[in-house]
Amino acid sequence: MARNKVTVIGAGNVGATTAQRIAESGLADVVLVDIVDGLPQGKGLDLAEAAPVVGHDACVVGTNDYADTAGSDIIVVTSGIPRKPGMSRDDLISTNAGIVGAVVKAAAAVSPDAIIIVVTNPLDVMCHVAMQASGFPRERVIGMAGVLDSARFRTFIAMELGVSVKDVHAFVLGGHGDTMVPLSRYSTVAGVPITELLPADRVKALEERTANGGAEIVAFLKTGSAFYAPAASTHEMVDAILRDRKRVLPCAVMLKGEFGVDGLFVGVPAVLGRKGVERVFEIKLTADEQAAFEKSANAVRELVKVLPA
Ligand code: APR
Repeated sequence: MARNKVTVIGAGNVGATTAQRIAESGLADVVLVDIVDGLPQGKGLDLAEAAPVVGHDACVVGTNDYADTAGSDIIVVTSGIPRKPGMSRDDLISTNAGIVGAVVKAAAAVSPDAIIIVVTNPLDVMCHVAMQASGFPRERVIGMAGVLDSARFRTFIAMELGVSVKDVHAFVLGGHGDTMVPLSRYSTVAGVPITELLPADRVKALEERTANGGAEIVAFLKTGSAFYAPAASTHEMVDAILRDRKRVLPCAVMLKGEFGVDGLFVGVPAVLGRKGVERVFEIKLTADEQAAFEKSANAVRELVKVLPA
C-alpha cells in the first residue's frame, strides 16, 4: 500500500505543530510548505531529525515549491497572517482570502484528488475561498473549528466538575466565532447531560468561556494565538480521514439545506472517512437552538459578503 502523504501549508505555529503530530503518530509522510524561504526547510529537517529519537519513520520535508506536494492525500491550510493592531476585520478577510486562494490553487492543481482541511481564520469564510479556488466538491473541503471548540468546552466542563476529560463529551455547532452554539443538552459526563449536573448559570459561564476560548489564549500570549489544541484537533481530523474511521466530528461543512441552511459553510457534526465528509449528521434542534444556529449562520453570511465575487 502506498504511504499516505499530507501537505501542510504554513510552517508557523499551527502548521509545524500539526506536521509534528502527523509524523509522530506515523499517519503519513509530511510536506511542509511556506512562502518564507528556509522556514519550512529548517523546521522540516528539524522534525526529520527527531524521528530516530521518537521512533517513527515518516518522511518530513520542507519546501517553497508546490511541485513537491504533488499527489497529496490531504492538504492542510494554515497559511495566513494574524490580525494586527489597527487592522479591520474586513482587511484581515481580504488579505487571508488572497493567501488561502493562492495556496489552495497551487496545491490543488498538483493534488486533484486531495481532501482540503482549512484552518486559517476567519475559518468559515476561508472555507468558501478554498472551495472556490480548488473547484473541489463539498465532500473534500472541510473546516477545522468544531473539534477545537468542543475540545475547549470539554476541558472547561472537566475542570468545573473535577473529572477526567476522557469521560466528557461536548457538542458545539455553528460558525467559529462569538456566535458559536455550544449545545449543553448534548454535552455529557459519562452520558449524563451537563444541564443535569450543573446549575444553569454555571453552564452558561462555561458556554461563554468556550465561545471566547481563542481570545482567552491571545490575551495571555499577546503576540500569537493558540496552536497546541488547534494542531491536535487538525490531527484528529487527518486521522479520521486517513484511517477511514467514520468519526462523528464537528466540522465546517458546506451545507446544502441541512439544518435549514443552504450554500454556506457552518459547523455541524459530520461523519469523516476516507472520502472526506461522508455524511452530515443531522439532529433535531429545539426552537432556541435553531435560532442560535441561524444567528451564527447569518454572522458567517455577513463575513462571506466581504469576499470579492
Ligand atoms: N504561502 C505560504 N505560507 C504563507 C503565505 C503564503 N502565501 N502567507 C503566509 N504564510 C505563512 C507565514 O509565513 C507563516 O509561517 O503562514 C504561516 C502562519 O504561521 P503563524 O503566523 O505562526 O500563524 P499560526 O499561529 O500558525 O496560525 C495560522 O491558523 O488557527 C489559525 O488563526 C490562525 O489563521 C491563523 C492560522
